[in-house]
Amino acid sequence: KMVSMIGVPMDLGQNRRGVDMGPSAMRYAGLVERLQETGCSVNDLGDIEVGRPEALDVKNADNLKDLEEVVTVNERLADTVKNVVQAGRFPLILGGDHSIAIGTLAGVAHKYNNMGVIWYDAHGDLNTGATSPSGNIHGMPLAVSLGIGHPSLTEIGGYKPKVTPDNIVIIGARSLDPEEREYIQAQGVRVYTMHEIDRDGMAAVMNDAIAFLEAKTDGVHLSLDLDALDPQHAPGVGTPVVGGTTYRETHLAMEMLAHRQIITSAEFVEVNPILDVRNQTAEAAVGLIGSLFGEKLL
Ligand code: ARG
Ligand code: MN
Ligand code: MN
Ligand code: MN
Repeated sequence: KMVSMIGVPMDLGQNRRGVDMGPSAMRYAGLVERLQETGCSVNDLGDIEVGRPEALDVKNADNLKDLEEVVTVNERLADTVKNVVQAGRFPLILGGDHSIAIGTLAGVAHKYNNMGVIWYDAHGDLNTGATSPSGNIHGMPLAVSLGIGHPSLTEIGGYKPKVTPDNIVIIGARSLDPEEREYIQAQGVRVYTMHEIDRDGMAAVMNDAIAFLEAKTDGVHLSLDLDALDPQHAPGVGTPVVGGTTYRETHLAMEMLAHRQIITSAEFVEVNPILDVRNQTAEAAVGLIGSLFGEKLL
């Protein structure tokens, strides 16, 4: 695979400082070498420029923290990702908080008629300024990509929506706000909560999710929020929720995605080295990325 790697040191979509160091932490954990050993040709495009909060005139209008700069960064990211996709390379985006999924999806979705998305996350990230309990845009990127929310977010890349509710699969959910739940139920979004993972096992969940998307999409983006993993396995995240997936379960999920070859772009987000324990979360992310790109023991 020809992989183009893009770091996005974004920490404006939430209020825990440090998540801007996520891309560096994953690079230091040996990501490029790991991918090369798996046979990938890797082109590290470096980091997208993100304004420092100290230097920004921060406005929180409409319950959307740092809206302007989040839009600016995501426009830049969308452009970069678009170029990668047009060059026929696989975009691998390193976060940074989850608000960057807005730019990633804007950059990839134009290429597909029926873009699928796997949202591997403890959360639904289906809020808008009107429903968000926090005003943090990292809790909104899936809604934005569905065309719901502030126009300056939904119009990034110059078109909307990027995806439709019937082409989304959420895996690992265990924390949903009331209106996120309502949206999921009203639209019939496919969600594998921790209940289904506990009851049926990760292999069954992934088989089901892959079969579902394979049949109806022409490209699938994986958006993996490290907080989908249990905090024991990924302590370095800003919004940890107990009762998550294990490293092994997530590892298996990545191997199954690699085996079925359905993923056409991916991002790994919310790695926060300040909250981490000896880079454990970045190292977990790198192990997962290795598996996603086909790394095998034997
Ligand atoms: N639902 C909460 C909110 O909207 C938490 C979102 C967490 N999102 C994330 N990408 N970690 O504020
Ligand atoms: Mn910062
Ligand atoms: Mn999350
Ligand atoms: Mn998330």
